[in-house]
Amino acid sequence: MPDVEGAEARKKDHIRIALTSNVVPERFKNQFDEVVLVHEALPAIGIDDVSTSTLVFGKKLEAPIIVGAMTGGAPGTDVINGNIAEAVEEAGLGMGVGSQRAAVMESSLEYTFRVIRRKAPNALVLANLGASNVRKMSSADLKRAVEMVEADALEIHLNMLQELLQPEGEPDFEGLEEMLDGICDEVGVPVLIKETGSGISRDTALRLNSKRLAGFDVGGAGGTSFALIEGKRRTDSMADAFSDWGIPTVASIMEIRSVSDKLIVASGGLRNGVDAAKSIAIGANLVSFARPLLRPAAKSSQDVKGFLDQVKLQLRMTMVLTNSRDIKALMKTPYVLFGNMKAWAEQRGLVPRTR
Ligand SMILES: Cc1cc2nc3c(=O)[nH]c(=O)nc-3n(C[C@H](O)[C@H](O)[C@H](O)COP(=O)(O)O)c2cc1C
Repeated sequence: MPDVEGAEARKKDHIRIALTSNVVPERFKNQFDEVVLVHEALPAIGIDDVSTSTLVFGKKLEAPIIVGAMTGGAPGTDVINGNIAEAVEEAGLGMGVGSQRAAVMESSLEYTFRVIRRKAPNALVLANLGASNVRKMSSADLKRAVEMVEADALEIHLNMLQELLQPEGEPDFEGLEEMLDGICDEVGVPVLIKETGSGISRDTALRLNSKRLAGFDVGGAGGTSFALIEGKRRTDSMADAFSDWGIPTVASIMEIRSVSDKLIVASGGLRNGVDAAKSIAIGANLVSFARPLLRPAAKSSQDVKGFLDQVKLQLRMTMVLTNSRDIKALMKTPYVLFGNMKAWAEQRGLVPRTR
């Protein structure tokens, strides 16, 4: 097994770089501006008539919003995880946790994850492990990750671009696809496949759709770029060429929804509650914000809660403006695509819901 100290140092690097550098590439940064929801000038509902609540893996969320997988596994990250956990518990939302590999290997690091259930006994919590590690883990290791956060589901992240670019990477997912059904049976909670910034295509989703997976977390391009993050850790310029690699989040949601009825989490470059509403209109069930919450989470749970409350209210307002009484109605609201997203949809044969 790879060394735990290396994993800890890497995790700290990622947080430091994500907090201090621009890690969002220009290319698809404004992709959500290219999705326009059709405005309803005379809605039949007011703000108090709107219900944003949703049921995910048997848990009722006040809104379909989670904080994306980021951290844990290095000393000090328990504070960040604790602040996120406290905020999502109060807001009635959910969270993903960062890769648990280091804590599965080294039990003295478990506290950086165990803090989550202490602070968030009721929130939706998603465990997290990387593809290259899962391949080599025993059934007991997988179960330990789930138990550590009393997870409602497990996310297995696919991060090939990052594995290729990081000097200590393990760019080999061979055999994982064939192992997925076995893993789903073993872990005892629903399993999601998650990307980390390059998105998931219709073709990949179609192959994975026949597995016993519960769904997909798109992790699309246009938000945090691990090519930019790894570029800052390297001494050469290898990573620069890949800074805007990947399927943009908007396109990835539409691609997956065109072939699958499973749960879709929208992640990668969402900025606010209007982007959240747009993600749901084009096919997502849940939306996720990662890096926008990192700075607030390093400060306090109130800062995280402040951001999430604003997103919830913006989502609610957008639902009034589209006459969407509940999340089911928002999923049927019409939209129009412009620019790059229109070009992507046309060339890939994806049909937007324009009426
Ligand atoms: C500092 C940092 C650490 C992350 N670590 C993980 C991780 O351990 N596992 C994972 O699946 N995704 C990880 N991600 C990816 C996020 O979950 C998310 O998919 C990505 O950042 C896109 O969302 P954003 O644009 O809102 O940041 C990390 C992101 C950041 C910023």
